[in-house]
Amino acid sequence: MSEKVKIRIDHMGKKYDVENKALLFTKGNSAHDNFVGHESDYVLKNVNLEIKEGEFHIFLGASGCGKTTLLNIVAGFLNKTEGHVTLDDKEILGPGSERGVVFQNADSAIFPWLTVQKNVEYGLRMRGVKKDERRKIAFDALELVGLKGHENKYPDELSGGMKQRVQIARSIAANPEVLIMDEPFGALDAQTRRTLQDELIRIWKKTGKTILFVTHDIAEAVYLGENISIFSVAPDASIVDKIQVPYSYPRNINDEKIGEFIKYTTEKLENAIRSSKEKHEQKKLTASEDYEEEEAVSKIAV
Ligand SMILES: Nc1ncnc2c1ncn2[C@@H]1O[C@H](COP(=O)(O)OP(=O)(O)OP(=O)(O)O)[C@@H](O)[C@H]1O
Ligand SMILES: [Mg+2]
Repeated sequence: MSEKVKIRIDHMGKKYDVENKALLFTKGNSAHDNFVGHESDYVLKNVNLEIKEGEFHIFLGASGCGKTTLLNIVAGFLNKTEGHVTLDDKEILGPGSERGVVFQNADSAIFPWLTVQKNVEYGLRMRGVKKDERRKIAFDALELVGLKGHENKYPDELSGGMKQRVQIARSIAANPEVLIMDEPFGALDAQTRRTLQDELIRIWKKTGKTILFVTHDIAEAVYLGENISIFSVAPDASIVDKIQVPYSYPRNINDEKIGEFIKYTTEKLENAIRSSKEKHEQKKLTASEDYEEEEAVSKIAV
């Protein structure tokens, strides 16, 4: 990891268009008043983070806290509402070939009508890379993810883990500086998951890419990451804790120290979730007390 900041997230906030939600509840209805009156409509608020070039960075947080939202903003698929998100000090305004994305579900990301080889070559073809060159690049990427010999198969002839490797190979072939991975191994069996984790570490070590990786699996986070960001819960979710994993690679998941570190990280995550939920409850309570007080005052005024 170099000292150069690759991605900087500065006071970033995101709210989705809630018009549709508001339409579900007509005004005067208590659900509407609760929603509008007491809850922030920011999913993410005041997110601050620096990721160094070549860093393996993990995001952990409760379901719905905004991890995918954040990755989509870094990928350039979504606009932020406020703050700054930069890559090499330039504001991210859309997708770019220096960023490669690996989604959780390979089925929605790879083309069923193209062979493994053609799937991996796809981005290169779009960029006008000549046939021989893209063949070689795709071949090397497939070898890297352990899919040598499967080049001419179609996706429906592959297992889930193999499809996920195709997706990873396609990202690697495009040679992005940053790999953005949203629970890429989430749906895989334990054995395949472990193999792909080891392959990913090998690829990362070999290529020096910056990796942003979301997982719900704390053991996976500790096995893979150099640094872990922990989110509070939405609304107004932000990164409330940052952990540095102080072990060199390869790590042994059965090592007692690693086991202790997994426990420590679990506690940190649980604390972040608990304390932000308590804060939300307190806010709601204060808001409803204010509301009752206002109502009492307005009755007196009448
Ligand atoms: N297109 C959208 N429009 C409105 N709200 C959205 C949209 N996409 C996500 N959200 C909301 O934003 C919040 C964060 O969603 P996001 O998918 O980023 O969470 P996550 O942390 O990735 O969750 P998970 O761990 O379950 O994948 C959720 O409350 C979700 O309902
Ligand atoms: Mg998600």
